Amino acid sequence: MPLAQAHPKLSLMNLPLLTKELLARTLVEPMLRSGLAPFGPFNPLMAWVLKNRDARLPKDHPLKSLEDIREWDSTFALSRSSLLWLWAKLNQLKPIRILEFGSGRTTFALASYAKQCREAGLATPIIITVEAEGSWLAQTREILASHHLESFITFIQANAIKTPTDHGYDLDGTSLREAFQSKDVEFLLIDGPSGGHGRIGTLRSVFDLLSPDAEIFLDDCDRAAEKQSIRAWAKDYGSKIQSHGIIPTVGGLGWLTRTAR
Ligand SMILES: C[S@@+](CC[C@H](N)C(=O)[O-])C[C@H]1O[C@@H](n2cnc3c(N)ncnc32)[C@H](O)[C@@H]1O
Repeated sequence: MPLAQAHPKLSLMNLPLLTKELLARTLVEPMLRSGLAPFGPFNPLMAWVLKNRDARLPKDHPLKSLEDIREWDSTFALSRSSLLWLWAKLNQLKPIRILEFGSGRTTFALASYAKQCREAGLATPIIITVEAEGSWLAQTREILASHHLESFITFIQANAIKTPTDHGYDLDGTSLREAFQSKDVEFLLIDGPSGGHGRIGTLRSVFDLLSPDAEIFLDDCDRAAEKQSIRAWAKDYGSKIQSHGIIPTVGGLGWLTRTAR
């Protein structure tokens, strides 16, 4: 029997998504990992919280239609919880120049944000997405076009580069700079290259394009290689960068701010 039915007063269904995640992260997962879970992983409360950590978006959410796009309903896409968190940040910060690595669900969200800005009479953001896989890029472009969102995005294809110590993109900074009309990038989302080899080179290739107070987000920080990327950047850039840690969304979203030139 579902937990909400068994214990209607608990009303777990009504908890905000991030509260559920925090519950799962702070109480349930550590207990499971340490073997201290009193009733094991089949305890209905634990099973329910873990299952609903990345629950569907609220009915009235502007990104709700994303859930019907099956192509992105995979482990490769940014989790709903990370997406919700980023969506809130976009609406709080209202960035005008946005750069993304690794297109897909996130590109849809960024384009929706740009559309929302335009409809509100605000400046329409310039958004560039850099993607390594041609077929993936084409598919993302096609899906955006079918939702009338394609015009908000500039797509750039760049090969992924992988060395034993570095993973990033083969990029021409000049063309990116031109696309941003020589102005600084304020919001950077790093969700590529894929493969779990870290993304150290991705930030390195565009660090000089960032504004002195740019916000930087790195997906998949639950993985060791991505955590290592953050440590490497802290060494590279010292006081020019501040790490806020990892937001406890599904997948783990690293958050950093550039603090100086
Ligand atoms: C983590 S994904 C990027 C996802 C995107 N930001 C999103 O939220 O949907 C990183 C890269 O993995 C590649 N990719 C995405 N889906 C894939 C799949 N199903 N199989 C193999 N590679 C995939 C694409 O090149 C993509 O840019």
